[in-house]
Amino acid sequence: MLSNIQAKLLIVDDLPENLLALEALIKREDRMVYKALSADEALSLLLQHEFAMAILDVQMPGMNGFELAEMMRGTEKTKNIPIVFVSAAGRELNYAFKGYESGAVDFLHKPLDIHAVKSKVNVFVDLYRQSKAMKQQVEALERSRREQEALLKQLQSTQLELEQAVRMRDDFMSIVAHEVRTPLNGLILETQLRKMHLARDNAAAFTLDKMHAMVDRDERQIKSLIRLIEDMLDVSRIRTGKLSIRPSRFDLSALVRNLLQNFAPQIDAAESSVTLDAETPVEGNWDEFRIEQVISNLLTNALRYGAKSPIAVKVYSEGDQARVEVRDQGIGIGEENQKRIFQQFERVTAKHAVAGLGLGLFISEQIVTAHGGTITVESRIGEGALFRVCLPL
Ligand SMILES: Nc1ncnc2c1ncn2[C@@H]1O[C@H](COP(=O)(O)OP(=O)(O)OP(=O)(O)O)[C@@H](O)[C@H]1O
Ligand SMILES: [Mg+2]
Repeated sequence: MLSNIQAKLLIVDDLPENLLALEALIKREDRMVYKALSADEALSLLLQHEFAMAILDVQMPGMNGFELAEMMRGTEKTKNIPIVFVSAAGRELNYAFKGYESGAVDFLHKPLDIHAVKSKVNVFVDLYRQSKAMKQQVEALERSRREQEALLKQLQSTQLELEQAVRMRDDFMSIVAHEVRTPLNGLILETQLRKMHLARDNAAAFTLDKMHAMVDRDERQIKSLIRLIEDMLDVSRIRTGKLSIRPSRFDLSALVRNLLQNFAPQIDAAESSVTLDAETPVEGNWDEFRIEQVISNLLTNALRYGAKSPIAVKVYSEGDQARVEVRDQGIGIGEENQKRIFQQFERVTAKHAVAGLGLGLFISEQIVTAHGGTITVESRIGEGALFRVCLPL
């Protein structure tokens, strides 16, 4: 593993035959030996490569080995390279080099002892490889620490998202429970009342007139339950991309006219009134059932949040667009909420104050977008709201 690390050795001597002899001694497959005939040559090699060690001849014309070593110690890139001096002089000369303190230094004496040369080079190369391997390990550790940090951050943000999703689900469950209970309570009360009349043989409670009214009330409660369930199913269809659009040619004006007739009981119940401005037929290819759902959502909202004000509905074409507008004069929507209300479960009003899941506009926008159209709102708080649906003709 350690010998995988390439070790470069620098040898410097002014005599080519010395270089060749030394090279032959220290060369191995896992080492590269670079030769320099002068200190200048050595310096330029030192700048290009990272050396495990340098073997410097002390006596050279021009800059000698000690001077070269001092220059090496003075340069950041080369100051830690272990140096072995080769000299013919006696040991007392060893102290002529003053850079001892700052890095490994050793001496070889001429004539060279083959064993001494080999073992010194082995020691320095091993040292180099070990420190290099250590550096790589430290770097790997640092990398993995950074990776872990990034992972941790990711985990934390996922956890936040999860917590929010759980909170949203809990809120949703409590709203659904509330919404389902309202029509069911109505139905169970009616049933108990009828049971009581039956127990008393009170036939007068079941005249045809009264039966009509009863069935109407039951139908309304059941329809509102169905609508709740349909809305929830639509949301899951939207989530899974399965909300399909089945276009056919029809007249938008006629659709809205019929819808308003069906809405008569709700308009009465809300003590409101609706005017329709739909003079000419506006024909196009859309999903009739889905578009009816959108407009019925807007009407329900106008009745719910319209504060009993008159509601104006308009159908017309403008350029290459068909448009439906539903305008009320109710509580209105502040600018800060006008985007939010199109998201699922988002409502302006306090949670249980007014019936609703906060899904109507979300589903409506998805349907209109799937048609290549837009749904927009213009409103100011206290001044009513205008919802406009634009569909491509
Ligand atoms: N015409 C309007 N006037 C004032 N506020 C409105 C109007 N229409 C919608 N809003 C606000 O936007 C919110 C979201 O409307 P949306 O139709 O999506 O849900 P919802 O009516 O609360 O419930 P759902 O339609 O699911 O029964 C409403 O809760 C209400 O606060
Ligand atoms: Mg609604």
